[in-house]
Amino acid sequence: MNDGAPLTGMLVKGISELYTPHEAVPAAAMAVADGRVAWVGAEQALPAPFSTWPSVDLGGNAVIPGLVDSHTHLVWAGDRLDEYLMRARGASYAEILAAGGGIHETVAATNDASEATLLLLARRRAGSFLRGGVTTLEIKSGYGLSTEGELRMLRVARRLGEEGSQRVTTTLLAHVPDKDMARGDYLERFLSETLPETVRLGLADAVDVFCDDGAFTLSETRRILEAALSYGLKIKAHAEQLTHTGAARLVAELGGVSADHLELATGEDLAALAAAGTVATFLPLAALLLRLPTPAIAEVRASGVKVAVASDHNPGSSPMFGLLPVLQLAVAVWGMSVEEALVAGTANAGLALGRPEWGRLAVGSVADYLVIDSPRALTPFYTWGSPSLKEMVIGGRTVWRKDG
Ligand code: NIG
Ligand code: FE
Repeated sequence: MNDGAPLTGMLVKGISELYTPHEAVPAAAMAVADGRVAWVGAEQALPAPFSTWPSVDLGGNAVIPGLVDSHTHLVWAGDRLDEYLMRARGASYAEILAAGGGIHETVAATNDASEATLLLLARRRAGSFLRGGVTTLEIKSGYGLSTEGELRMLRVARRLGEEGSQRVTTTLLAHVPDKDMARGDYLERFLSETLPETVRLGLADAVDVFCDDGAFTLSETRRILEAALSYGLKIKAHAEQLTHTGAARLVAELGGVSADHLELATGEDLAALAAAGTVATFLPLAALLLRLPTPAIAEVRASGVKVAVASDHNPGSSPMFGLLPVLQLAVAVWGMSVEEALVAGTANAGLALGRPEWGRLAVGSVADYLVIDSPRALTPFYTWGSPSLKEMVIGGRTVWRKDG
């Protein structure tokens, strides 16, 4: 008999430093079985049953959990380069959106593209994230608007998860009302058709609402999120980004997994999120490119809220093809510590997806990790533009390894 541990698996030893990510373990070892972590700790303290497992020796390289990007809009066609140029000259995102551009431009381009094209485009982008250390991606819909348009995006996202090695979670996003329909009609169709069809086909793990000017109001957001809850889906929102709406407190009240953006969040909003156990997800590149303020890091820390940081990859406010540079920005611009940024892009991002077993290296967690091309685990945060990664492992299997 054994104590529940699998009889055999793989032992990873010779790890100079391992971040769980909450703790740094020097001279570490990790046992992996069935794609999960069976044991992790100081190599010296390795329990006897694991010492006979087949082993790989990392020869003094460090290990961190695979990065988890908990907020992306990865499926889209066309581009918004002209908008980017205009905004760089001072035009405002909200004005472009109100004039029928911005998100609406991507809706038109996305609906004009075939599903095969959308898959091809999204697959390439997912590849950039994979090479940059992202083992898990959340992918939202929101550029289809019609029921079929949204389902197509979610099918593409699901397909990416099935065909590749990256973990993918999908989110149905009520992004903006269709500008060619009466507002009330759009909401009714979303509630009576888009959401139930998505649920029937099992295409989404969560529902998100963009609650803001030019998008949905607080009471519309409540209706959508309550409907999503009644189907057993996780809920979240794009909250307090361009205007302060009360969406963050609504998500907290309804027990959502995460409130995202939060550029205009108040201390009370942060306290409500902390009390509810809802993760506060910050999107530093979108905030920078739209020149939005961000709550002071000291205030965020004082609130006790759990913080995730995500890329918000999308063609408008955040044309970013990786997570690590965004975590570096959170340190350089916002004043997070590097250790906080690591937790924000791993374990707390897993919590923001309602998956506590993702983004950490603890017994029972998924064995998704990065071997660092250095004995120091935090080197990737220091080497801007060259991520210093040597190998990526997802579910105990090597996905890529850098030669030499
Ligand atoms: O998270 N805020 C709204 N939605 C996206 C932007 C989408 C777009 O501009 O295409 C965001 O920033
Ligand atoms: Fe977003």
